[in-house]
Formats: sequence, C-alpha cells, structure tokens
Amino acid sequence: MTRNDDRTGHGIYQGLTDYGDAGFARYLRRTFAHSTGRSIELLEQPVVGIATSTSDFNTCHRLQPGLVEAVKRGVLAAGGLPLEFPTISLGEGFLSPTSMMFRNLMAMDVEEMIRAQPMDAVVLVGGCDKTVPAQLMGAFSAIRPAIQLVTGPMMTGRFQGERLGACTDCRRFWGKYRGAEISGKTIDQVEKNLATTAGTCAVMGTASTMASIAEALGIALPGSATAPAVHADRLRIGEATGRAAFQLALSGKTPSHIVTRGSLHNALRVLLAIGGSTNALIHLTAMAGRLGLSINPAELNELSDTTPVLVDLKPTGEHYMEDLHAAGGIPAVMNEIRHLLDLDVATVTGRNLRETLNEFDQAGHDSVVQPFAEPVRTEGGLLWLTGSLAPGGALIKRSAASPELFEKTGRAVVFTSLEDLAQRIDDPNLDVEEDDFLVLQNAGPRAAGMPEAGYLPIPRKLAEHGVKDMVRLSDARMSGTAYGTIVLHISPETALGGPLALVKNGDRIALSVKHASLELLVPPDELDRRRALLLAPAPAAGITGYRRLFHDHVLQAEKGCDFDFSLPVPTAGTMETMI
Ligand code: FES
Ligand code: MG
Repeated sequence: MTRNDDRTGHGIYQGLTDYGDAGFARYLRRTFAHSTGRSIELLEQPVVGIATSTSDFNTCHRLQPGLVEAVKRGVLAAGGLPLEFPTISLGEGFLSPTSMMFRNLMAMDVEEMIRAQPMDAVVLVGGCDKTVPAQLMGAFSAIRPAIQLVTGPMMTGRFQGERLGACTDCRRFWGKYRGAEISGKTIDQVEKNLATTAGTCAVMGTASTMASIAEALGIALPGSATAPAVHADRLRIGEATGRAAFQLALSGKTPSHIVTRGSLHNALRVLLAIGGSTNALIHLTAMAGRLGLSINPAELNELSDTTPVLVDLKPTGEHYMEDLHAAGGIPAVMNEIRHLLDLDVATVTGRNLRETLNEFDQAGHDSVVQPFAEPVRTEGGLLWLTGSLAPGGALIKRSAASPELFEKTGRAVVFTSLEDLAQRIDDPNLDVEEDDFLVLQNAGPRAAGMPEAGYLPIPRKLAEHGVKDMVRLSDARMSGTAYGTIVLHISPETALGGPLALVKNGDRIALSVKHASLELLVPPDELDRRRALLLAPAPAAGITGYRRLFHDHVLQAEKGCDFDFSLPVPTAGTMETMI
C-alpha cells in the first residue's frame, strides 16, 4: 500500500478515523504498526484478531498463551496477520458474588474491542463457563467473521485408585463429608486431587457443554470441543483454527451466516444428547437473541422427548471429557443423531455440516458414546416446567434428578435469601423432613446476579441420616457439574414479585415431571392477600456503575439474562421463533 492509496476497507488500515485528514490518519496508523517490527508486506495482510482471556485468577485458561501461539502459526502459515488482544477474564472459582453477573460485561468488552480494532476476522479463545457464551454474544453483536476456540478440559486425577475430576466428584466427596462418611483428613487429600491439570472442568459441566454447543452450532471447528487442554491435539486444533479464521476473513462470512435456526436446532439436539448443563439454555438463548433469534421453551420439551441421551459422562453418568475425546468427541455424537439434524447448515470450515461430519468415523466408538438404538436414556435431560409457581417457566434436569421424586407434592420449607439459607440450613432445630421441598427466594438475576445457589445443601440433620436428595426450588441456577432433583430458573424471580415471592413455610407445592408442571397449591384469594402485602421491589439504593446497569437491565432466565439494550432492535419480520 502506498501513502496515497485510498484502500481502507481491509487489514490494519480499516476503520481509520481521519477527522478530516485521511492521509494523516493512515500515516499515524502506519507509524504505530511499524513499531511492532513487522514487515510492511505482513502488515498489509488480512488481520485475524485473537481475543484472549488469560488471568492468574482463571486457572481454566492457564495454558492459553501456548494455544494462542498455535493460532498465530496457523494464521501466518495461511498468509494472514495475527494480532492478539486481551479482554477481561472470568475464572469461575474466584468471582464474587457470581460469575454470571460478569458474563454480560465480558460480552460488551469483546463486542466493542472487535468493533473498535482493525480486524477482518476474530478467533475467540476461552473456555471457563461464562467465557464461551460471553465471547460469542459479543462477536455476534459485532457482526464480524468469528470462530470459537476453547481451551479444552482438564485431565482426571487419581485418589486411592479412583479417578477424580472437577467438579462432580468435588460434590460427591463433600456430600460424604457432610454425612460424616469420611474424615476431615480425607477431604483434605481429595481436595488436592480433583483438579490436577490446566483446563476446564473435566465433566459435562457448563464449560464442556458450551464447548460442545459451539461445535454443534458450526462456529467452532468440528472435533474441537473435547481435546484436553494438555493434549497435543489441542495445539493442532489451535493451528487449524488460525488457518480457518484466515479463510473466514477472506469469505467475509459473519456469524449470522453460520448461526441460523437450523444450527440452533442442531445445538439444542446436541445439548440434550450429551445430557448438558442447565446453564446452557440460558446462554444459548442469550447468544441466539443477539442474532434476533429466540428459543421456544415449549418446543424444547418436544425435542427433549425425542432426543435420547447418548453420552455417558458425569455428572449424570460415569466418564470424563478425556474419554469423550478418545471416543470421537462431538462429531461421534452428531453422527449418531444425524437423522435429527439439519445437515445443510454452514460451518466456519466453509463446508456444510454434512460434509464436515462425513470426515469423521460414523461407528466404532466405545460405550462413552452410545449408539442411537441403545441410548443411556431414551429422552433428553432437560425439561421446561410451567405452572402457577412459575408462569414464566422453570427448568429441571431430569437426567440428574431422582425418578422417585418426579411426581411429588411436598411441604415448603422457605429460605428468604442466600444469607437466611446460610444461617439456618444446618440448624439442628430446623423444622424439615425428607419429604419437604426446600425453597430458596431472592436468588434470581436481579436480586443476586443468579448465583449457582440452586443446589441447596441437604440440611445436615437429614444428610447425617443418609438423605441424599430432596426437591429443591429456586430462582437461582446450579452448576453444570451438580445433580439432584433441583428446579431452577423459576420466573418471574422473587425480586420481581413472581409467585415464588408469595410462598410461605408449610405451603404445598406439586412437582410433576410427567406433566412438566410446577404448581403452588394455595387458594387464589390467599395469594391475592399475600400479594397485596408484598413490599415493592427495593430500589437499587447504593448500587452504582456496572452493578447498577446489571440490576436495572438484566432480563429474566427465559430471555437468557442478557441486557434488554443488547438485543437487536426488532424490525418487522426480524424477531422470529426458532423452532
Ligand atoms: Fe472453569 Fe469449571 S471452573 S470450567
Ligand atoms: Mg461450573
């Protein structure tokens, strides 16, 4: 490019702001580009931005720098200019009050940094729970060619001959400790063997589910979700992603070419077939929303009834992500359900889904991925509930629940907040029995940022008598690595005065998985009386900055907990129901 060349639409010269002197703007851009020491030939190639999210607080991304180097190799080998840039990093284990509060912040960061900086395509590198949805939400809104690259799961550790992986086994052993089955010394030893390598949680938790969904959507390379963080495959996938991103930059294909109603439908099928996390429904809804698409929860149930669980991974099964990778990964799953998928959808490879799946073995995997005809379960894991206690809906992971509790009416034992729960759950005088329903209020998006508090602990006095599961209800979420008969995402949340706010100790509640219903068995006139006494939602007194933004604009779970202002402004015909 010469000094007088007008071309500003591609590469490092795009997006120049000239304030009236275009030549000066280009001259300044070149001045700073030269300072990187790269040749002018390289600087003039298409730019592949690489959004990174490393942090010492994010152990799941610990090996990301090496992975980013592999992406750069791929971009350079293809003839492009790789330029890495940082965004905020959300390490699940270290964020308070809850990482969920910061997913939308990261999405804003990613969106605006893609938009603000000169790049022809972007590779989104991340893995921990909220990272993949945040990166994809941001990239979808930025309308730039994008490709997801996950950091990969951890390998398992060993303890007394048993394989351990974060963090389903974390919960299993903690339950044993609470039930006085193992000592404090043993739990101290277990703790050191649960997360023994870099990478995301080793089971089909939220991180693994979102990685699988990115692949199922066609926005990540086929076969890329499952390779462990420490596996050489992970680096090869990084390099291939760099090459693919360069081609994507040349094609100019933005996410809306890839993520369509057909690919969302495929992603829901895969979510169900892998027995994926409840959180994924919130994230997929938010991601779809950025493209003007929505998910109809009622039809989720239809898909759930016709999609078997084929993957036998913890938290609901036996194996770990490294086993799924060895068994052929997500392509093996998709090939088993290919008759249920839309195979004509585009992917970031430039080929359609049929062509990419044909490149993978269609049989021969072991028990980790079951054949369609011999599923782990005949129906999908997730079920959307509605009823008088949840007019906006609620979610249960039936594959992680106890079937004997599926059709049950119980007495409510109510905790009015997270603090109330913490103070009283282990009180020996708590009036609670095994058949009761534990109810947690005020843990929804607006009240508390929707923490993973829906996995209420079994009261110690019951745990010590061997009680392992109870019906638990809340407007919170639960970790994708958790299990139990747990009804989540009840909407509208307590803080918005939904029926959950009206529940009192001793009320009867009926759960029916068969009828997909959740009913508060209190006469309407009594509910009216209670509603009249309900205090108006507390104003956001004392809350400023991002937390104020979150409080004022977060949507309910069935809308993906995105910000109302982040959704595209609907014009006639653009907001459509997905399935
Ligand atoms: Fe990062 Fe589980 S803590 S994936
Ligand atoms: Mg998690």
